[in-house]
Parts: sequence; C-alpha cells; structure tokens
Amino acid sequence: MILVTGGAGFIGSNFVLDWLKESNEPVVNLDALTYAGNLENLQSLTDDPRHIFVKGNICDKELVSSLLTKYKPRAIVHFAAESHVDRSIFGPDLFFETNVMGTLNLLECAKAYYDQELSENERSAFRFLHVSTDEVYGSLTFDEPAFTEETPYRPNSPYSASKASSDHAVRAWFHTYGFPVLTTNCSNNYGPYQFPEKLIPLVISNALARKPLPIYGDGLNIRDWLYVGDHCSAIRCVLENGKIGETYNVGGHNERNNITIVKTICAILDEMRPHRDGSYANLITYVKDRPGHDRRYAIDSTKLQTQLGWKPKECFETGIHKTVQWYLDHQDWVKNVQSGAYREWTAKQYGNW
Ligand code: NAD
Ligand code: TYD
Repeated sequence: MILVTGGAGFIGSNFVLDWLKESNEPVVNLDALTYAGNLENLQSLTDDPRHIFVKGNICDKELVSSLLTKYKPRAIVHFAAESHVDRSIFGPDLFFETNVMGTLNLLECAKAYYDQELSENERSAFRFLHVSTDEVYGSLTFDEPAFTEETPYRPNSPYSASKASSDHAVRAWFHTYGFPVLTTNCSNNYGPYQFPEKLIPLVISNALARKPLPIYGDGLNIRDWLYVGDHCSAIRCVLENGKIGETYNVGGHNERNNITIVKTICAILDEMRPHRDGSYANLITYVKDRPGHDRRYAIDSTKLQTQLGWKPKECFETGIHKTVQWYLDHQDWVKNVQSGAYREWTAKQYGNW
C-alpha cells in the first residue's frame, strides 16, 4: 500500500492510473478536490478495490495520522500543492498554507507514524517522496548551463518560493531526524488531464473555442517540456531505487520557447481539425507580461539517467501529438473542469483578456 496526496490533480491522477497499470499494490489517494482536482480523471478506477479515495486536506493532522494508522503505507508520494504561478501572484497565502504548512504537517504525521508504528524492517523500507519543481532554481539566461542538483535555490515567484520552502523542510527532516526522504525536481509537464490554465492545455482549448491564444511578453521565454507519463516513470524509479536524502532532477531535454510551442500546437490542429476561418495561429495574441516572469528553465537529468537508469519514452514531437489528440477526444472533460470556480476566478483576474 502507498499513500498518494493530490492524486486527483494532473500529475497525481496520471501517476495513480499508471501505478495501478504497472502493479497491483493498492493506493490510498488523499486529495482536497480543489478547482484543480477532478475525480473524473479516475473514473476508470471507480470499481477498482486497489484505489481508495479520501477527500481531505493535507493540513488536517488528525485525518493524515488516522489514514497512516489505518492503511499502514510503505511509502508516501506527495503531489498535493497549489501549482499555478499566475494564481500565486494574485493570492500567495494559499500557496504557503498548502505547499509549506501542508508539507510540514505531512512530515510531522509521517515521522510520528514511522517512529511509533513501524517495525525495524518496515522502517528500513519506508520512503517519503516529495514531488517538486525545477522552478526552485530560479531563472537561466539563454546561454547558461541547465540546472543540476547542485544549482543553488533562487525561487522568484510565490509558487516557487513555497515549493523551495517545502523542499528545505523535507531536506531538514532527513538531516535532523534521519527521516527517509527523496525529492524530485521536474521540469514543465504536459499531457492528458492538465487543467486548462497552464500554457499547453489552455492554448489547445482556447484554439478549439476560437478564443485568443495569450502569449505573455515577447513569447521568447523558454521551458523544458516533459510528457507526464515520463515524469510518472521517473517517480516510480526514484521511489524504488533512489538513495534516501538525495534529490533527483527530472527532464527530457526538450527546451522550447513559448511562441514555438503555441505555433506547433496551431500547426497540429490545422492538420487534425482544419477550420474554415484559416489557421489557428491567427488567434495568437500578445498580452502584458507576467510580473517577475522567469526567462528560461532547463534541466540536466544526468544523475537520474546515469545513477538510476531512467530514460524518457517520449520526445516533444510524439508527446505533443498525443496530447493534442487527447484534448480533441476529451472536449467534455475540458468543459466540465472549466465550469464553476475556475471560470469565476479567471473572469475576476483576467477580465481584460
Ligand atoms: P495540480 O494543480 O493539477 O493538482 C494538485 C492536486 O492537489 C489537486 O488534485 C488538488 O485538489 C490537490 N490539492 C491541493 N491542495 C490540497 C490540499 N491542501 N490537500 C489535499 N489535496 C490538495 O498540480 P500538478 O500539476 O499535478 O502538480 C503536482 C505536483 O507536481 C505539485 O507538487 C507541483 O508542484 C509538482 N510539479 C508540477 C509540474 C507541472 O508542470 N505541472 C512540474 C514539476 C513539478
Ligand atoms: P505555465 O504553463 O503557467 O507554467 P510555468 O509558469 O510554471 O512555467 O506557463 C508556461 C510558460 O508559458 C510561461 O513562460 C508563461 C507562459 N504563458 C503564456 O505565455 N500564456 C499563457 O496564457 C500562460 C498560461 C502561460
């Protein structure tokens, strides 16, 4: 049994689905079902006894402790977080509450469980895997080398500052208490079930709705894109073979600037779903830049590849085709997650778009 937090979100739900495809080990999935969590992602597991869903908050000490006692997991894989940079700019508090205090609560509950409820053998097998981001390393210029595990932390957004704080807490629990942690720092993910507020799903869903495709600033900011299935396989690999106390960068060497990403998506849609009004690229609209917008992220994942033998399966071209196809096939999913709270929030913040 493993305990996953945030398993109804984008990466978490892909992880749970992949996990139960790859093994028979059951999963307890603790998720608060914020705007970003959607049980529809896990519909295929409705009658699967290997998946136990619990709606609840990672900040809830009693709940987390009771789940640990009841299910006795051999590992915790911690995805739950507020994850969108733009939201963190408008409302940082929730990011620190969930990402920092929520992680602290998990560490405290998990350490008490580890110390008091596990046998020596169970303790030596136990792992707490903290899923983090490359954004903690800050921003690169166009010619600087990619981030390694040795790159100093220089978070620039409230989101990355909150993730950096949680990474530091995880590190401290290892150094101070010998608690068996692992941390992964991954680059930007894309793929099925990503909420249409992040660049790639937003552009696909706006294009299909013939809405503007907003490009922040000059469109030359670079991200290093990884297909979500490859992130999930990296997490499984680190969980099984990672050295406790270590951090592992995860990325697939797919640096692209934003305007190239958006034009690539438009070209794929022109081919798959041509529109009588002409190319989807006509919808591209340059808008005001994001405050403090990091220029470039790039990940060096040599450590994970050479020490643990992980390799990504997808390159950007195969991954983005699969992703566009998935969104074309799941337009109802997009409609469902865009209704309600998210729509109200975006209308308030971005009414001018
Ligand atoms: P997401 O926003 O899609 O999902 C987050 C999930 O966490 C949702 O299901 C939400 O309901 C849940 N959640 C939020 N607050 C909670 C709380 N207090 N208690 C319980 N559940 C709560 O995020 P994602 O993109 O799937 O990211 C997952 C993790 O991976 C995050 O920790 C993020 O920092 C990290 N990460 C994301 C990316 C990326 O490109 N998306 C890249 C690297 C790392
Ligand atoms: P995003 O998907 O929000 O991920 P992150 O900020 O965590 O990297 O954004 C990816 C890049 O795309 C980032 O440089 C900001 C830019 N962007 C746009 O140009 N337009 C948009 O509408 C969004 C959401 C992002």
